[in-house]
Amino acid sequence: MANWLKKHGISSVILELRSREYVEGRVRAGLVEQNTKDILEQLGLADRLNKEGIEHDGVYLSFDEERVHIPFGELTGGRKITIYGQQEIVKDLTNAWLEGGEALHFEAKATKIVDFDTKSPKIHFEKDGEEGILECDFVAACDGFHGIGRKTLPKKSFQSYDITYPFSWLGILANVGPSSDELIYAYHENGFALHSLRSETVSRLYVQVDNDESVDNWSDDRIWSELTTRLATPGFELKEGPIFEKGITPMRSHMIDSLQSGRLFLSGDAAHIVPPTGGKGMNLAIADVKHLVDAMVDYYKNDSEAQLDSYTDVALRRIWRAQDFSNFMTKLFHKQDAHGSFTYRLQKAKVDYLKVSKAYRTTIAENYVGLPFEDFEI
Ligand code: PHB
Repeated sequence: MANWLKKHGISSVILELRSREYVEGRVRAGLVEQNTKDILEQLGLADRLNKEGIEHDGVYLSFDEERVHIPFGELTGGRKITIYGQQEIVKDLTNAWLEGGEALHFEAKATKIVDFDTKSPKIHFEKDGEEGILECDFVAACDGFHGIGRKTLPKKSFQSYDITYPFSWLGILANVGPSSDELIYAYHENGFALHSLRSETVSRLYVQVDNDESVDNWSDDRIWSELTTRLATPGFELKEGPIFEKGITPMRSHMIDSLQSGRLFLSGDAAHIVPPTGGKGMNLAIADVKHLVDAMVDYYKNDSEAQLDSYTDVALRRIWRAQDFSNFMTKLFHKQDAHGSFTYRLQKAKVDYLKVSKAYRTTIAENYVGLPFEDFEI
């Protein structure tokens, strides 16, 4: 957001709670929607993404060891996705910002946001044991689910909505080339599995586990054996390699219905959490920021607050769409109830329908690659 505002001559100061090493090393999803790639290109920040990212023109959806292919380009007029780790984007954006000599304080803890109902909001923060106050025109709380941005919004100004899913993802990174030309989302009676990748030599894979699971119960052998079982289809062979990262991610959907109060605006995980099935998290954050940047540019250039006032309405349309799609993908591919139950049969009915209906495949494809921004404008 700061890089983008800078292109319009608007300056920002970034406060980051963690160290540079921490944010650059934190493993997150790696699915970059067409819109996100287009934005990074427009900002001149996509050089490494274009060099190292791996473009995908489709995805495999597997159910009970049978696969359906969803060709994105053909169904969406040429839109695609790119696999490029989120922390790589963080590195690219941080480098661009710091190379321009701009202000970024790592390990700075924002403690309080005040006066956001006036024209000069302030952020109180602590860094190196000292207290500082940042006075600004606007506060963009891009500070995640546990940040102070959402906690600062007046309680009466919004409602929140939550779903907690009864399962989590155990994710691994392994030194082995991908076993498939496309990502694979799989339902199996043992539970969900996802095959993704990071490069020609690194694969990223996930298995559904119980919420109270510990990585200590998952030896490398057990992980590969489960992945092999869950991703199986005739003729498919899963390549195994040394695992160098293991972690458990809980699955949650969280929403609030107002993302702003006065001159405080929330973006990204501060405002919403989607379950990772569909890889929408970072893409939604960047879409929020697009609307907020447009609104701020309109404010500084045209002295108009109209777009700032409608930020929540515009952003929420896209966020609810992504919430629905992420929830849909989660329910379609996770084991929710006994294999053979009514719920299972509904899941299977959807996948059987996918096989015969181009309309249904198109619905999945256009949501997966991300709908164009124009579709959500008021
Ligand atoms: C990933 O590569 O980490 C990834 C890909 C697709 C998802 C979630 C995560 O839906």
